[in-house]
Amino acid sequence: MNQNIRLVDVSKLYGTSGGGFPALKHVNLTIPKGEICAIVGASGAGKTTLLNVMSCLTDVTEGEIFFDDTDITKMNGKEASDYRLHNIGFVFQKYQLMPTLNIHDNICLPYVLAKESVDEAYVTQLVQNLGIESELEKMPDQLSGGQQQRVAIARALALKPSVIFADEPTGNLDSQNGFKTMDLLISCAKELGHTLVFVTHNETLAAMADRKIEIVDGEIA
Ligand SMILES: Nc1ncnc2c1ncn2[C@@H]1O[C@H](COP(=O)(O)OP(=O)(O)O)[C@@H](O)[C@H]1O
Ligand SMILES: [Mg+2]
Repeated sequence: MNQNIRLVDVSKLYGTSGGGFPALKHVNLTIPKGEICAIVGASGAGKTTLLNVMSCLTDVTEGEIFFDDTDITKMNGKEASDYRLHNIGFVFQKYQLMPTLNIHDNICLPYVLAKESVDEAYVTQLVQNLGIESELEKMPDQLSGGQQQRVAIARALALKPSVIFADEPTGNLDSQNGFKTMDLLISCAKELGHTLVFVTHNETLAAMADRKIEIVDGEIA
């Protein structure tokens, strides 16, 4: 059976006391398993909010979000964080590596959180694919921005989540490094059969996706 993400009439209001700000308005969207999907739109359009509600980082105000038959909006905090850990990888614009852990331990953090033993063979394959195999003993601040983002990608992929979300993953990188990093992220997702949803302001990067979705004022254009 095809594994889909399905948003049904999803709305998000921020600061509901005294009439909230509608960041998402009645969004209906299906993302099939394995799709590479680019989200574009002006600053403030609701792109981050869309990614955050799909990845259990933010509650919806209205509507349902299904991963296959599982409605993630009905989960309590503990259920949502467990679900997230095992099914969703997230790449942030600012990498968000742990400054006190070396690169290897940053990548392996999801295994620690999941109380699972590290799949060292898989981690080795990941770091080779991402070209960071010689950086494992270093600390994050010894790496370039592009290398740090590759570490963040490896961490997001470590537990083999079915879905990867990336919110302007190359927004902090120069354009050459941005393309290289995005190309690696897309080829990793394709090779491993992950669904990938990424936000970008860059039309060339958006064109690398199977589908481009534009958000305008909290609605799909
Ligand atoms: N925590 C918040 N509280 C109140 N308003 C917010 C919050 N987060 C985002 N917003 C508002 O919601 C709208 C959409 O934000 P966001 O999803 O971050 O847009 P984008 O990622 O497309 O720039 C913006 O107008 C923003 O100011
Ligand atoms: Mg944003």
